[in-house]
Amino acid sequence: MTIDWNNLGFDYIKTPWRFLAKWQNGAWNDGELTEDNVLHISESSPALHYGQQCFEGLKAYGRKDGGVNLFRPDENSKRLNRSADRLRMPQVPEELFLKAVNEVVKANRAFVPPYGTGATLYIRPLLIGVGDVIGVKPANEFIFTVFCMPVGPYFKGGLAPTNFIVSDYDRAAPNGTGAAKVGGNYAASLLPGEEAHKKNFSDCIYLDPETHTKIEEVGSANFFGITKDNEFITPKSPSILPSITKYSLLHLAEHTLGLKAIEGDVYLNELDKFVEAGACGTAAVISPIGGIQTHDEFHVFYSETEVGPVTKKLYNELVGIQYGDRPAPEGWIFDV
Ligand code: PLP
Ligand code: COI
Repeated sequence: MTIDWNNLGFDYIKTPWRFLAKWQNGAWNDGELTEDNVLHISESSPALHYGQQCFEGLKAYGRKDGGVNLFRPDENSKRLNRSADRLRMPQVPEELFLKAVNEVVKANRAFVPPYGTGATLYIRPLLIGVGDVIGVKPANEFIFTVFCMPVGPYFKGGLAPTNFIVSDYDRAAPNGTGAAKVGGNYAASLLPGEEAHKKNFSDCIYLDPETHTKIEEVGSANFFGITKDNEFITPKSPSILPSITKYSLLHLAEHTLGLKAIEGDVYLNELDKFVEAGACGTAAVISPIGGIQTHDEFHVFYSETEVGPVTKKLYNELVGIQYGDRPAPEGWIFDV
């Protein structure tokens, strides 16, 4: 298979190896690498009927020296276990999670995009409830699998700004599963996402499900805005996915860029206070937001075509750390 590293989208590619472990009789087996990308599961698996499943997303970065970095994979392991707990699934020990990720990256080493291409290896850990269950109750068997593929930018344009539209739909309920990375949230986002795409927006913006006055998420990414007063502000809410990228940016905004880093409310009727805005996440990296279509206006932040200076600095800092070009805060980078 020849891969055009510079022109990858965010699409499934079958790489040769994936890792698969099974939980049966109350314990995980050791798991192993396999070439089989098809799961053989019971037709009654709770993952299929009742959405008893959760997943993660992280990336491997090809370094200049030929090595490979992972960015904060221990945080993905912790979040997977919080999601698992919310849906009554067994914990995946961090050791098993990291072993699986490492083995998959090593086994598919030829698919880690070379340094300088801007592409990365996207890694998808998945935990599903399987077995013969038909009532609404937790599965008694589980599969934990990790697979990967090389990817390019998630939003068309990468670091070029794109536009978003506020949705009338909610992706999660106030005390629901919004903070867990579970498939149901994403199933709920398909229709609003499709409606946004039809109107030529990159994705939709979800408001807080309780009052519909505050920004919560930007499609499958978190929101951040930069104010005139050098504040980095990102929404805080129990129905937002706690983005590892977002927490990393909060740290970098404060400690490297000297901004005031705030997790707080982002009211839709106060967008004027932001001179720049963006979406952040593993897939999205940092994607500048050109403008947002609200119910009554099209609000442009910095520019519809140019990336703002603070967003650019944050991007360079984050991506520099991920590829190993810049020093990372302790514990952020794992060598494969
Ligand atoms: N919000 C949603 C709904 C997501 O799916 C993701 C992706 O994981 C994020 C935010 C960003 O989270 P992270 O930075 O941990 O990838
Ligand atoms: C990620 O950023 O890893 C995501 O999960 C976004 C999307 C592909 C679901």
